[in-house]
Amino acid sequence: MRHIYLGVNVDHVGTVRNARGTHYPSPVEVALLAEEAGADGITMHLREDRRHIVDKDVFEYAQKGRTRLNFEMAMTDEMLEIALKVKPATVCLVPEKREELTTEGGLDVITHFARVKAFVTQLQSSGINVSLFIDPDQNQIEASAKTKAKIIELHTGDYAENASSSELEKICNGAKFASDCGLIVNAGHGLTLENVLGIAKIPQINELNIGHSIVARSITVGFVKAVQEMKAQMMKAVS
Ligand code: PXP
Repeated sequence: MRHIYLGVNVDHVGTVRNARGTHYPSPVEVALLAEEAGADGITMHLREDRRHIVDKDVFEYAQKGRTRLNFEMAMTDEMLEIALKVKPATVCLVPEKREELTTEGGLDVITHFARVKAFVTQLQSSGINVSLFIDPDQNQIEASAKTKAKIIELHTGDYAENASSSELEKICNGAKFASDCGLIVNAGHGLTLENVLGIAKIPQINELNIGHSIVARSITVGFVKAVQEMKAQMMKAVS
C-alpha cells in the first residue's frame, strides 16, 4: 500500500493568538497535539510581517517537535538566516506579497531561476531539503528540477476554488510529469475534508500540507479529531 503523509500547517493558530495579542493559543502546543493525532509533519510559514507565526514559535517547535518541520519562507536574506539557524527538515520556498490574504500563486521559478537555485544550493548543502511551491505547470516543473531541488509542492488553490475536473487533471498531469523528472511531489492549499480525496488519489502524491480547514474544523470537533478525520479521509485514497 502506498503511504501518503499529512503535514499540518498551524499558522492560523497564530492568527487567533495575534488577533488579541495574547500568548494563547500556542501554535507549538497545537503542533504537538497534531503529532499525537497522527500528523506526519508540521508546517509553519514565518511571513515577513509576522502576521501569524512569530520567530519564537519556530525556534520552540524546532526544540520540542517530534516529527519534522516544514518551514515555509519567502526568498529573503532574513529568512535564509533564520532557516540556517533552525535547520528544519525541509524549507518550502514560497512567493510572498504583503497585501495578499494567503499565498496566492506558485513561485515563478523560471523568472527567478538564479535566485531560486542559489537558495536551493545553500540550503541543501546545509542538510535541509528544499521544496518549491509551484503551480502545476510543466515549464515551472522543469525549471524546478533544474534547480536541483528534491521536492515540489503543487499549488492546489485553483482546484480548491473550482473543484473542476480540468483543474484536477492539471494537478494529475503535473504530478506525473514531476515524478518522471525525479522530483518528490507534495501538494497543498485550500484542501478540505470534501475535496482532499481527489488529490490524495493521485499516485505520485507523497504529502499534503493542510492548515486552514483543519484549524477551522477544530473549533467544532477539537484539534485531535480534526487531524484524525483528515488523515482518515486521505487514507481512503490509498487503501
Ligand atoms: N502549502 C503552502 C505552500 C502554503 O503556503 C499554505 C498556506 O499557508 C498551505 C500549504 C496550506 O494551505 P491551507 O491553509 O489553505 O490548507
